[in-house]
Amino acid sequence: MRNLLVAGNWKMNTDSAGAAQLATEVANGFKPDSTVEMAIFPPYPYISIVASVATGTALQYGAQDLNEHESGAHTGEICASMLVNMGCSMVLVGHSERRAMYGDSNERVACKFIAAQAAGLTPVLCVGETLEQRENNETEAVISRQLDAVLSRTGIQAFANAVLAYEPVWAIGTGKTASPEQAQQIHAFMRDKLAALDGIIAGQLRILYGGSVKGSNAAELFAQADIDGGLIGGASLTSDAFLAIYNAVA
Ligand code: 13P
Repeated sequence: MRNLLVAGNWKMNTDSAGAAQLATEVANGFKPDSTVEMAIFPPYPYISIVASVATGTALQYGAQDLNEHESGAHTGEICASMLVNMGCSMVLVGHSERRAMYGDSNERVACKFIAAQAAGLTPVLCVGETLEQRENNETEAVISRQLDAVLSRTGIQAFANAVLAYEPVWAIGTGKTASPEQAQQIHAFMRDKLAALDGIIAGQLRILYGGSVKGSNAAELFAQADIDGGLIGGASLTSDAFLAIYNAVA
């Protein structure tokens, strides 16, 4: 019922030639009879390069962030309509690196989520706890606050056109993956929380896991009942590593 999604967040990496090559290799990696989807999130300057490669293929693409305003005097920022204009179908919102380093509060993330949807983009809402929060047994409270900030402004209906990503901060770029059981527990917690508001929407929502996913651990993680794919950083930067994840489940 929920197609797996293998999504690559390139973060602030690649150059123009590398972006074209990586996108081409990923687009060529689809198995014709698989329902597993792939998406990539290049840096802004390379979106048009990825667009020219991905158009006409099954490869989906989007941006790593957006500004919450529609247009206007916001020097250096990128708005949702510009992403739509470049053919993006998705956009990440609330990645932990933006929350930690670039002022993305829960409230601002909610505004970005709303701006993305208003323009017709599917927001990929990223949530997750720090190591300190996990050790203090605050994981569920933190994730609830992150979800509630959006839910209280949009209502559950908005999650009919969204993707969630659980990315424990302590597992990002550290080589420390959450165990399949640890990840499943939080995914189930999130789905149950949303199901209390609307069971159908919660049942259809894809919840990705992110944090040191690689070819060798993807199959076990994505086999969990509430894990519907991955949001991949480091291992999305070479087609070999990224397609190893796709091939493990496709
Ligand atoms: P890594 O796969 O490098 O741990 O990064 C995960 C991530 O932050 C994806 O958004």
